Amino acid sequence: MTSGRLKPRVLLGVSGSVAAYKAVELIRLLRKFCEVRVVLTRAGSRLVSEKVLREASGFPVWTSLFKGSTPIPPGTPGGSHPLAVVPHIEFAKSADMVLIAPASADLLAKLALGLANDLLSTLCLYATCPLWLAPAMNTKMWNHPAVVQNVRTLRQRGVPFLGPENGHLACGEVGEGRFAEPSEIALQVESHFRLFGKWKGRRVLVTAGPTQESIDPVRVLTNHSSGKMGFALAQAALNRGAEVTLVTGPVKLAPPNVARVIGVKTALEMRREVLKAFPKTDLLIMAAAVADYRVRRASRTKIKKARGGLSLRLVRNPDILAEVLRRKKPFQRVVGFAAETDHLEKNAREKWGRKPCDLLVANRVGGGRAFDNDQNELLVFSPNSPRPVRLAKDSKSRLAEKLLGMLDEF
Ligand code: C5P
Repeated sequence: MTSGRLKPRVLLGVSGSVAAYKAVELIRLLRKFCEVRVVLTRAGSRLVSEKVLREASGFPVWTSLFKGSTPIPPGTPGGSHPLAVVPHIEFAKSADMVLIAPASADLLAKLALGLANDLLSTLCLYATCPLWLAPAMNTKMWNHPAVVQNVRTLRQRGVPFLGPENGHLACGEVGEGRFAEPSEIALQVESHFRLFGKWKGRRVLVTAGPTQESIDPVRVLTNHSSGKMGFALAQAALNRGAEVTLVTGPVKLAPPNVARVIGVKTALEMRREVLKAFPKTDLLIMAAAVADYRVRRASRTKIKKARGGLSLRLVRNPDILAEVLRRKKPFQRVVGFAAETDHLEKNAREKWGRKPCDLLVANRVGGGRAFDNDQNELLVFSPNSPRPVRLAKDSKSRLAEKLLGMLDEF
């Protein structure tokens, strides 16, 4: 943030997605910690009124390149360039972030190509601060090869994406493309401003998701882990400016930006990647739901149906966390997770005895809890507190922020 200013400045672009009306709530939340100026595209203005956005932000809404410019008296030095006195250009120069929420498919295409045919796309080329995007569109549009390609281009350029999420869309369909919750976007932006740099230089390794153990070329043994908690933790570490590596089992989530992402399938692959990266890691967070067992010898051909049942011979997988704890150097911190269906506190405490991590994070699973859920509640065992700390039900991103907050003290 530019020194001497009390609040960071966010230039909020609102483009023509049906979710544009949600920008009003987003502005309300953002204004709690930053200055917001709104740039509205033409299509956006058909979905949410300029007046409402002006009321919400407390400032005029910018819609065109030249509207609002002050005429320059002839002969003024540098005055021949109309952009020199246009207020939104001045603001873009000093903005700490350009956030486009919602970002339509059209806007993603413009940004990927570097077009500058309206105010918002022009400012995006002009601003030197981070650009963040929160897309929202119909699932078919989001999955269209052209959009997929544009998203990939932007990601490769280092642009972070917030969402989209899976859920009910304005068009009545259900699928990926839903605008991320305004509270979620505001949380990420706030963490970026409040915490960025706090963990600069820290190397963080996070594992996430389930593992898959082959039975035969067609079938697998796996679990219901969605990877959401691990991904939220990786994002929270990124927000603090850490250098993050994410080792993930098969999940359906878009990876947080700038993290080095290593995709694995089996517990043995995860073990190999974790042990390889661990010596250069300051903090390891083992949020993955690693399979405890694998099939002793997976069949090379599809097992045919036969009369009667089928017995599979399973063997134990190595316990990665236990192994890492044996190799841990004094400067390294390790966080483990315990997923329990019953006797949460007792079982987790017992696990903590066997695997003495710096934090052991217990959560109750089963019956739709924790796994594949956006919310969770946690019980955190730490040597700093005689009793486990209870983190009440909340979004996984907020819980991730709270957990990392506990690690600030280590
Ligand atoms: O003993 P339990 O499997 O419940 O321990 C859970 C913790 O251990 C998690 O942090 C999980 O990532 C890790 N784990 C592991 N290797 C396994 C099984 C679990 O590292 N094979």
